[in-house]
Order: sequence, then C-alpha cells, then structure tokens
Amino acid sequence: LQTLPPAQLAHKYFELFPDQKDPLWQNPCDDKRHRDIWSKEKTCDRLPKFLVIGPQKTGTTALYLFLVMHPSIFSNSPSPKTFEEVQFFNRNNYHRGIDWYMDFFPVPSNVTTDFLFEKSANYFHSEEAPKRAASLVPKAKIITILIDPSDRAYSWYQHQRSHEDPAALKFSFYEVISAGPRAPSELRALQKRCLIPGWYASHIERWLVYFPPFQLLIIDGQQLRMDPATVMDEVQKFLGVSPHYNYSEALTKRTDLKFIKLFPSRGIRFDSHKGFWCQLLEEGKTKCLGKSKGRKYPPMDPDSRAFLSSYYRDHNVELSKLLHRLGQPLPSWLRQELQKVR
Ligand code: A3P
Repeated sequence: LQTLPPAQLAHKYFELFPDQKDPLWQNPCDDKRHRDIWSKEKTCDRLPKFLVIGPQKTGTTALYLFLVMHPSIFSNSPSPKTFEEVQFFNRNNYHRGIDWYMDFFPVPSNVTTDFLFEKSANYFHSEEAPKRAASLVPKAKIITILIDPSDRAYSWYQHQRSHEDPAALKFSFYEVISAGPRAPSELRALQKRCLIPGWYASHIERWLVYFPPFQLLIIDGQQLRMDPATVMDEVQKFLGVSPHYNYSEALTKRTDLKFIKLFPSRGIRFDSHKGFWCQLLEEGKTKCLGKSKGRKYPPMDPDSRAFLSSYYRDHNVELSKLLHRLGQPLPSWLRQELQKVR
C-alpha cells in the first residue's frame, strides 16, 4: 500500500473532492465517534446558547449591553479586529475552525444555567451564516431586531460617513440609494451594503430553512428603544434564563433633560424618541453606549424617504405575510408602511 505525505495527500483529496474545501463544522460532542477522539483537555461547553444576528444599526449593541447585565448571561471576549463581534459564521473566520471560535468564550461554571452568546450583526443577511450556525449549534436560539429598513439604511450610511468611508463621504444618501447600473462601482458596492440587509423577509426565510420558528425571536427595535425593560422580560422568557432579572430597576433614561433645563432659551425640547436607556450604576451614575450610537444627524430628506418606501414596499409586504404566518404582531412602522401600499 502506497501513500503520500500528509500535505500532498490533502492536496490530492481536495483535487478529487473540490466541494469539500468549504468545511461545515459540527459539534464534536454530538457524535460518539468524534467525542472518542476529541482531546480530553477540550470541552464542547464553550459554544453559544444563542446568537444575536442583527441586522446592523437596529439597536444590537444596546441589546448586547442589556444582555450582559444579566447575572447568568455571558458574551464572548472581544476580538482585536471586530471588537465585541466575533463574526465567525459569516466570513472567512469560519475557516479558522471551532477551536478558534470556542477560545472566545469563557468556560461556563454551570453548563445548564449559564447562557453564552455572541452578537454579530452581519450574520442576519449572510448567505452562509444560517447553515453554518445550524450545523454547529443547532439548538441555539436566534434573536433579530427589526426597525424600518429605510431608517436602518440611513443610519448605516451615517455610520459609514463617520468612519470616513470615501464613497459615503463623496456621495449623498440619495445618490447612494438611487444609483443605477451604470454608476461607478464604488457607489454600487456601497449601495448594495446599504440596502440589502433591509430585505428582511428574504433573510429571515433563509434562517427559517435551518432553524424552527420557536427558536427565533424577532424584536421590534422601536420598542427596544422606548421600553427596553418590557423587551428584556420577553427575551428572558424566550431564552428560559434564570433568575429573572429586573431591568425596570437596572435601566434608566439618559438625562438629556438636564441639558435642556440649562438651555431653555435655545428652545431645545426633550424628545422621548431620542432619549436612550442606559445602565444605572451605583451612586446614581449611568453607563450608556458610546458616542457612535445615537449619533446626531439631520433627518432623512423627503425624496430619499419616498424612494426607499417604494424600494422596500414588496419586501415589507412579504415581511408582513411572514410575521402573520409566525403568529407575530406587526411592528408599528410596518403597519404604517403597509398603509401606504393601499
Ligand atoms: P443611530 O446611531 O443611527 O441613532 P447598532 O448597535 O445595531 O449598530 O444600532 C445602533 C442604533 O441603536 C443607534 O442608531 C440607536 O438609534 C439605536 N439604539 C437603540 N437603543 C439604544 C440605546 N439604549 N442607546 C444607544 N442607541 C440605541
């Protein structure tokens, strides 16, 4: 019997089976044959029980902050490149393997009651993430947050500008969303990244191919912003986490009012839509999200609003059908958008 050295053998193998170059990781402990050869030093417990999948700019960081306040909920350690997000299932990090992934998570002190999770807001619209996640963590619960896709697109564009994305600085929001097929490639690329995550129904349907509906929670981002304590009660119930954590006591509204009291002559009014909820610390101090969240920018211009309302019309109709099928209530922005259709 003749064989080749390992590297050459691998090369030969992938020549014969090229489609197997793209791995699909499974939990090594789910199969006895794998468990038997799995190192004794290793554990399969450092895997998330739930994923916050995004999309970006819907309040995912706020949800993340609220979740880690819970005594039984633990997130991954930060990544040097993508900060609090691991971004494992969506891109090439996946090829680094499950040891690389598990190293981000703490070893739970109690596997039953501790809830590990990660939030990577790009999972939502990723083609690969649902299949890959279902293969490694099939029992994981999936949480997504939805806001009006037009507002999401606008917030995302503003986010790119503040990160000095050259195309976002060069082109107006209207130019980005309305660019035609002959527009410069940098503009078209930005447009895709801006608009595609807002095709909510298509993305959720893809997750539902791999995860049963009872494992999916859809949060209304508007409600998360206005009434996080109620949303967090719902999240706790959905996860089945204990003890019950009292978010009404632990969260407080950012006191923008102080500023308004100081500058009444400037006619600044407290806008409850913009006041964010923050963690209440001891001695009355608060911990809010950094400057990058809740940025101040001018409201969307009416032409862009009208363009996007029409652009997302069919997607929103599909979303309403999907939510109906799942027996979920329609968020208020969706009701408003559907009224425009009639
Ligand atoms: P803006 O910065 O456009 O206002 P993400 O964390 O998914 O990127 O979402 C950022 C958005 O979360 C912010 O968008 C903001 O509107 C929203 N948000 C919701 N609750 C918040 C909170 N408690 N603190 C800060 N931002 C919050």
